[in-house]
Amino acid sequence: MELNAKKTAEAIYEKALASVKRNGDKIPYIAENGVFDDRTDDICWWTNGFWAGMLWQLWGYRADPALMETARSIERKLDKNFLMASGMDHDSGFKWLLTSGASLRLTGDLSSRNRLILASADLAGRFNPNGRFIRAWNDSGDGSMSGLAIIDCLMNLPLLYWASENLHDPRFRAVAHAHAKTALRAFLRPDGSVNHIVVFDPETGAVLDAPGGQGISPGSAWARGQSWAIYGFTLSYIHTGDAELLAAAKKCADYFISKLPPSFLVPSDFLQPPESELEDDSAAACAACGLIELSRITGEERYLSAAKRLLLALLEDRCDMDPSRDGILTHCTVAYHDRRHNHNLIYGDYFLTEAILTLCNASTFLW
Ligand code: GLY
Repeated sequence: MELNAKKTAEAIYEKALASVKRNGDKIPYIAENGVFDDRTDDICWWTNGFWAGMLWQLWGYRADPALMETARSIERKLDKNFLMASGMDHDSGFKWLLTSGASLRLTGDLSSRNRLILASADLAGRFNPNGRFIRAWNDSGDGSMSGLAIIDCLMNLPLLYWASENLHDPRFRAVAHAHAKTALRAFLRPDGSVNHIVVFDPETGAVLDAPGGQGISPGSAWARGQSWAIYGFTLSYIHTGDAELLAAAKKCADYFISKLPPSFLVPSDFLQPPESELEDDSAAACAACGLIELSRITGEERYLSAAKRLLLALLEDRCDMDPSRDGILTHCTVAYHDRRHNHNLIYGDYFLTEAILTLCNASTFLW
């Protein structure tokens, strides 16, 4: 089977439009039995921007008012976050780049710009100068989370790069760049795999621990974390021009590619036992986006070729393109030790859409 990006883009478009018409302004996280759930009552959840981001990507490909109306409605719903301090965490990039960032880029809506300014100021405020890292999560006031940073945060940094460029203020870029350099030092291992979580001493900045996160165990290689690192280091290179960050992205990518099975279907953790059948299509889709960018930057064809092989494997065996059902990728995994596996996850579908539209030269760069 050949990868036909144009045909796939059309299939995704038709399916997303049908989902929008069925689901109104639900904020989906997962589809069960082909029906989207709705996270509106969990409005601070980290994935709440992905469906709107996917709709904006498709709107940029071919405008349909239903796509924009739903994306705008979700963006407005997210405003509640700004009054819920305990729900504002490091995932502001995921939440607002894909909603307000997309809206501003595609329509020039100034209310979206305002949201981006609020979100970027909050994100920058999570920076700990002692360890030069952005704190991931909140706690109930006991400080138990004050030293935790996670690899996923690399994907949130473009919100800070946006703020520096658009507010003509270097502080935001300095924070993002410092965090990316800390990730290089404290998360990236010599073999090119990455830690998911690193615990810093919030007073001295010393690295205390690298516990297991969503992978199989401490020291393992959680596949989605690896894809966050590939794309995240690449994005920080794009925004800073720091060659060390490009080298880090390549190292992460080389590790990812070296561990792929012949099927190109990505396991949940690259170090899971051979008998484990857990997969994570969302890691494959996000890595494909990062590899496409890496190939564009470096001119190295092997990254584009790996991205296309990953996407082809998904399209051959792991895509539900039936427009009467919600959710596309069928084999996503949130965390290795979760009880539920092999289901759709909205961020997997977002990155699949971004990758396919990029191959059609029809994506909007939202990072
Ligand atoms: N950012 C959390 C995850 O990748 O599951």
